[in-house]
Amino acid sequence: MQQYLLVADRRFLKHALGELADIAESARKINQRYIGASLTLVSLESEPQALLHRIRQARPTFIYGVIPVAEVFDGLGEDATVLTAHLSKLLDSSETFRIEVIKVGTTIEPNAKSIEVSIGKPLEEAGYKPDLSGPDVIVYLVLERSRAIIGLAHRADLYDSVIDHFRLENRATNRVNRAETKLKEAFDVFGLLDKQLGICLDIGAAPGGWTDFLAKRGSKVVAVDKAQLDYGKITGKKIVVEEFKRESKEAPDMTNTDVLHLKYNIRSISELPFAGPTFDLVAIDINTEPLKSAAIAVEAAALLKDGGYLIMAVKLQDARDIKIIREAEKTLSKVYSEVRANKLHHNRLEVTLFGRKAAD
Ligand SMILES: C[S@@+](CC[C@H](N)C(=O)[O-])C[C@H]1O[C@@H](n2cnc3c(N)ncnc32)[C@H](O)[C@@H]1O
Repeated sequence: MQQYLLVADRRFLKHALGELADIAESARKINQRYIGASLTLVSLESEPQALLHRIRQARPTFIYGVIPVAEVFDGLGEDATVLTAHLSKLLDSSETFRIEVIKVGTTIEPNAKSIEVSIGKPLEEAGYKPDLSGPDVIVYLVLERSRAIIGLAHRADLYDSVIDHFRLENRATNRVNRAETKLKEAFDVFGLLDKQLGICLDIGAAPGGWTDFLAKRGSKVVAVDKAQLDYGKITGKKIVVEEFKRESKEAPDMTNTDVLHLKYNIRSISELPFAGPTFDLVAIDINTEPLKSAAIAVEAAALLKDGGYLIMAVKLQDARDIKIIREAEKTLSKVYSEVRANKLHHNRLEVTLFGRKAAD
């Protein structure tokens, strides 16, 4: 049996375990223990390389990541540096590493960051090569009361957002910019970080986190929302605000505009002053029922260029109700290809859906 750290939101743990059982083709109920901080220790018969490969292929909705456990160290006292010797046995000195510590229910001192340094420094002195920005291997140290779970993952096997997860949980980063982080995470998980998106439509744009994110990466944005956007935040961009008139059918000229805010809540995409394929990305975040959002997304496909992307966040009433997500996926599949749903870290009771407009 191989142990893994399953990273998944506790509210959706049942679904994540179900996905894992399917992917691992595990006939038996998975042995599991929820640790805290979205981490669950699971035992599976599958071997790490094959399992991680299958997870990436299956693109599950509720699994953020799975980290193979290299060792469970019992008898951890007040000094975490005892782990240094264990890590020197587990690491390969030809690969660069980074250590991520997370403390769960332990009073061990000092803080996580200092523990990372106090373990990493002697390893560096012993000839192992740390690399904080792009390591080959990431060492996850989950410190419980008297136990340390040591997980090892190759960077290529994890999304950046799984890597960030430890930092966010640990450093209790403030989540004021949650909306923005949510879109950034969606770009990571759905493979858009390296895409140039000339012009984007952002429906349900206020207070402007997504618009800001898109504008800062060089896209022009048509932001649609009756509510106010925080224009001060979108610095250095030319912003035009228009009280939307339903009768105005002329497509706006965006030549000298970076962000156009149409102050209006749409009932239907056909109300917008764009007739045909215009956008490289349609983003929808309108806190309404998932199937209503999906209906708008289906209409919005007409405004997407061939190969253009859809990203849509939908709120769930209840973590148990994922049928609605499957239904929304089905609706989107009528006009989009590559449809996927993903419960991102930064989502609470939300799931983010992705689709791509197929060329005719
Ligand atoms: C969760 S917020 C969006 C947050 C935004 N993505 C951000 O990054 O700041 C939802 C927004 O959707 C807007 N909204 C709801 N229904 C809408 C509709 N039919 N058309 C346009 N905007 C709508 C609301 O006014 C609200 O500002």
